Formats: sequence, C-alpha cells, structure tokens
Amino acid sequence: MIEIKNQKWSEKELLKQREEVLKQWPTGKQIADLDEAIAFHKSMPEAHNAALVLAKAKKEGKTLIQPRGGVNIVDDHITLLNILEKEGGADLLPTTIDSYTRNARFKEAQLAIEKGAVNGNGSVLNGLPAVNVGVNELRKIKEQTNAPLVGRTCAPYPRLLTEMLLAGGYTSLEGGGITCLIPYTKTDSIEMSIKRWQYVSRLMRYYYDHGGIKLHRESYGPSTGVLIPPCITLAISIIECLLDCEQGITDYSLGYSMGGSITQDIVAIKVMEDVCREYLELKGYKGIELTTYFHHYMGAFPKDEEKALSLIMFGSMIGALSNASVIITKSTHEAHGIPTAENNAQGCRVTRNIIDMLNGEKFEGSEEMNQEEIMLKNATRAILDSVFEIGDGDVAVGAVRAFEAGILDMPFSPSNYNQNLLLSHKDMKGAIRISNPGNVPVPNDVMRYETQKIDERAKNQNIEPGYKMLMQDILAFTGKNNS
Ligand code: 5AD
Repeated sequence: MIEIKNQKWSEKELLKQREEVLKQWPTGKQIADLDEAIAFHKSMPEAHNAALVLAKAKKEGKTLIQPRGGVNIVDDHITLLNILEKEGGADLLPTTIDSYTRNARFKEAQLAIEKGAVNGNGSVLNGLPAVNVGVNELRKIKEQTNAPLVGRTCAPYPRLLTEMLLAGGYTSLEGGGITCLIPYTKTDSIEMSIKRWQYVSRLMRYYYDHGGIKLHRESYGPSTGVLIPPCITLAISIIECLLDCEQGITDYSLGYSMGGSITQDIVAIKVMEDVCREYLELKGYKGIELTTYFHHYMGAFPKDEEKALSLIMFGSMIGALSNASVIITKSTHEAHGIPTAENNAQGCRVTRNIIDMLNGEKFEGSEEMNQEEIMLKNATRAILDSVFEIGDGDVAVGAVRAFEAGILDMPFSPSNYNQNLLLSHKDMKGAIRISNPGNVPVPNDVMRYETQKIDERAKNQNIEPGYKMLMQDILAFTGKNNS
C-alpha cells in the first residue's frame, strides 16, 4: 500500500524525524540548533544567496554559469572554487558530493578519507564528503569564497547531507526524489525516495518560516543523460517542482540537458517553463520564482580535445539562445574523468564568451519551432494528466503508480522500479524521438510526428531503427561514428 501523500509536513513531523536524521553520523550533533544555522544565513551577504541571485538574473534576462566540482580535502576544494570563480567567472559555485555520502555510507567515506590522508594521495573521493567534514569546515568554504554555494547533492539518501550543507551556509540544493533515484539505484523504492526529498524541502521551508531565508531547489533534469525524450524530462522535472512547492519551496529551477538539436532543445526549455507555470497555477502554488537550468551534453563525450571543446561551445550556444537562467558547464576532460580546476574553468570561460557574443539574441518563431512546441506541450501535458489521474489527484501517489504502470519511463535506467519499455532514437537533425512509447501515454498525433521523423532518417541513411541506430545515437558526439 502506498503511504506517501503530496501534503506539506507539519513542523512537528519534520522535527521528530530530524532527531533520527542527526543521529546518522556523529557530526549531526554539531547542527542540532537550527536557530544558530538560521542566524548564520542572516549574517551572509545577499550576493551569496542563490535564490536571490537567480531571481535577479531572471529579471534581467541573464544566463548564469555554474560548473560542477568537488574534491574531498577542504582546502583543495576552496582552491578549486576560487579558481572556478576567479579564472572561470562562475556565478554559482558548486560542491559536488562524493558517492558514499550521497548514499549515506558515512563510515566508508571516513575510511577512504583516512586512507587518503595517510597515503597523501590528494582527493580519493569523487566529491566533497560534506557530512564527514562537518559544519565548521563547510563554513570555512563559505567564508573563503564570494558567490552562492550550491550543493550538487543528487543523492538517493539526502537528509543528513542537506542538513549539513544548509547549516554550513549553502543556499541551493540539486536533486529530487525521482531524478536522484531512477538513474542511480536498482532496488530502492521511489516512494521512500520521494519521502526523503520531502524532508529536504520541508527543512528548507523551516529556514524561511523562522528566519525569512529564501533557499533554492533544483531538479536534476539530466537523469540518465541518454536519449531521454524531452516530454519525459519535462514531466518529471515538473512533478518534482510540484512536490517541492507543496513542502513550501519558493524558488525553484527546472532542469534539462542538451539533446543535440538546436530547435528541440530551445523549445524544450521554453515549454518546460510554460507548462510548469500552467500546473503551478492549476494546483494553486502562487508566487513561485521559477527558473531553468540547461546542462551541457550529459551523454558520451569525445576524448579528443577539439571535439570536446566544440561540443561544449555548441551546448553553450544552445543554452544561451534558449535563455535558460543557468548553464551547467562541462570540461574537455569529461571523457577522461574529473577535470582539473584549470580545465574546468576553461569550460566556464568558453561558455561566458559565447553568451556574450550572442548579445541576448534569441532563436524563435520558425514554423518548425512552433510545430515542435505544440507537440511537446501536448505530450508533456498528456503524461502529467495521466500521472494525476492514476494518483487520484495526488502527484506523489501518481508518480509512484506511474512508474509501476510505465506511464513514466526513463531510458537506460538501472532501477527495478522503471519499466524500460520506451525506446528512442535521434532523427536527421539530432532531435530525440520516441520510436516506441511503451506505456507512456504519448498522444497519437505526437506519435505520428515522432515516427515520421525517425522514418525520414531511416530512409535517408538506409538504416533501420534498432541496435545499430541506437549505437550511433549514443555515440553521436564522440566522433566514433565517423571513424
Ligand atoms: N568534479 C567535477 N565534475 C564532476 N562530475 C561529477 N563529479 C565531479 C567532480 N567531483 C561531473 C561530470 C559528470 C557529471 C555527472 O558531473 O561531468 O559527467
């Protein structure tokens, strides 16, 4: 039986659960006093608050830049962030969290940190273990940097992690009950994951209720990052937004990653915001500061430096033309592993150059874009309406049941809770099209449109939709298709 509900938790419920959450690791004791954490936020300049910085950018029509980045030694992380800020011109500073911490495996994180320290190997984790380092170290990061800090916390187990980051002065957290589960885990249930993320958003609301602190949430749009049709990304991102707004979030960013077609990607960013506004209005969530994140390509990257840089530039151009509020940047080291700070800063600089060169120019109004917009709106609304219907009007119940029924279906997910029936391919222009919707309720006219686009490619390139085409799609930007 499904116990979850899309209903704001009472403060009592939050604080009761909080007692258990803080016990997960000894550093939890450091942050028992929420009033103290709120006072710390009050002492911070407005320019360090992600919600305020994003709202300002939105008002001014600006596109901001945010890289990813995280190493496990705090001083090295501070150096990294200073390079990203000063050499890269990053507007928002990331802290990517290591995988152990994302899974609440704090003991294993500790062992790795200690072993790394003995061997003097530098960073031995793939991000900053924020829980293990504790609140004072996080505040040291805060004090030695000059832009809002964002926890890149796409975690199946986010509760103590986000407690620690908020107490440390972070004002934005990335993640969500669906997008941080379906791409990463096999046996964890969606219901429990949504509950854990309800905790995060309800906790953020506590900061607002008791101190007027505006905190920002961002849905992890890219998810598996491979051939996800935009209607799926949009529906899931909007569902996560609705879930978070119910818990009291006021500042929210929807997320989407580049597919590779200028037309489709630009339309997707617009439709994502438009349709989300419709549903916010419909469900009675008022005054939400809504913004969009555009992620550089999240699929397989080329190893070759020039090809990688071209892909980054291509993504920056699409992101800027789409007028997304933030572009999340990649580096030319992407295919090789975690980038050096300098290489990461280069990805930011290149992106800034392209944003500046475009001078706010927009790309809109073509017949092709209008058509794409109509189709994408129809498909996204159809999926969302089905989710509400199967959830008897409750979007949390609906999300759980929709995955069970395959109404929501994410390509390339390892999760047992995902049906994996939907199949997609790229069309002649690199747009992602649905070749088989599985049980996703894609309207007939949209399916005709998608099928026609795939058929066009099949005919033109003399290739049938299937395994070989799929390999080409996955490797589209690696350069391997040409060799
Ligand atoms: N530092 C920088 N980038 C990172 N990524 C993941 N961990 C880190 C890190 N510690 C980026 C990579 C990856 C994406 C999901 O996040 O680009 O592809």
